[in-house]
Amino acid sequence: MDLGIAGRTAIVCASSRGLGKGCAFELAKAGCTLVVNGRDKTALEETAHEIEAGTGTKVIPVIADVGTKEGQARILGAVPQVDILVNNNGGPPYRDFRQIDREAQLAGLINNMVSPIELIQAVIDKMVERRFGRIVNITSGSIKAPIAGLDLSSGARLGLTGFLAGVARSVAHANVTINFLLPGSFDTRRLNDGLAKAAEAQGVGIDKIRAEEEAAIPAKRFGTPREFGKACAFLCSAHAGYITGQNLLIDGGAYPGVM
Ligand SMILES: NC(=O)c1ccc[n+]([C@@H]2O[C@H](COP(=O)([O-])OP(=O)(O)OC[C@H]3O[C@@H](n4cnc5c(N)ncnc54)[C@H](OP(=O)(O)O)[C@@H]3O)[C@@H](O)[C@H]2O)c1
Repeated sequence: MDLGIAGRTAIVCASSRGLGKGCAFELAKAGCTLVVNGRDKTALEETAHEIEAGTGTKVIPVIADVGTKEGQARILGAVPQVDILVNNNGGPPYRDFRQIDREAQLAGLINNMVSPIELIQAVIDKMVERRFGRIVNITSGSIKAPIAGLDLSSGARLGLTGFLAGVARSVAHANVTINFLLPGSFDTRRLNDGLAKAAEAQGVGIDKIRAEEEAAIPAKRFGTPREFGKACAFLCSAHAGYITGQNLLIDGGAYPGVM
């Protein structure tokens, strides 16, 4: 399917690895000029080369911490205009909520709620003027069903979702959409770090933990960043202008609710 966004400019935050990288690859494949971002120079440059080689699209790597104002300015300054913004960032670490002090709470809020709002504030009026804009926020399945130890992640992301629900309606008239992708379990560094910690805590091999977790998902496997990226690219496509304010859970059927 031609997504109708060739020649558009896209920023994908936190995209040197994992889900962000999956989104970046698919947007590049659709013909977007692309800004990719991360903090580790080597990983970011490798990803930029891989995407350029795989898609023939221009990729601009920006080393920056997306959670800082200075980092955001560098990301936004890399291109003259932004048609597509994919908000992503690292998530807070697993922690018992009793151990999350004020400083850690504020850091989680800044990274997973405030920063994406700041980036949207910076780009949305121009999107409205040009009568095209696509914003996708990567949040988490944990906003629908809590995961022990990820309370800060769930809280900050649900805050973002609530904040933007009204914003999405306020710009829909201008063909600017704001949607949310809620990953379940995807095979990324973050997930594998979690598996390794669980294996260590239980004194078993990582393969055992992986097999148990995959078996608990109706699809019987973890998701791949590329299939996540394809859903993102569709939401960013010219065809998705009537989809806004929506939360798309992608979890292989793991969430047990009817809706
Ligand atoms: N994978 C899953 O199953 C899953 C499930 C639910 C929610 N999520 C959420 O989805 C998001 C992406 O997860 P993932 O699994 O793709 O993680 P990942 O594989 O660890 O990749 C994270 C990416 O974000 C970049 N990054 C992290 N902090 C950054 C910062 N401050 N500024 C710029 N870039 C930054 C990393 O690069 P550098 O480290 O080099 O900066 C890397 O490219 C996270 O918020 C995670 O909590 C993931």
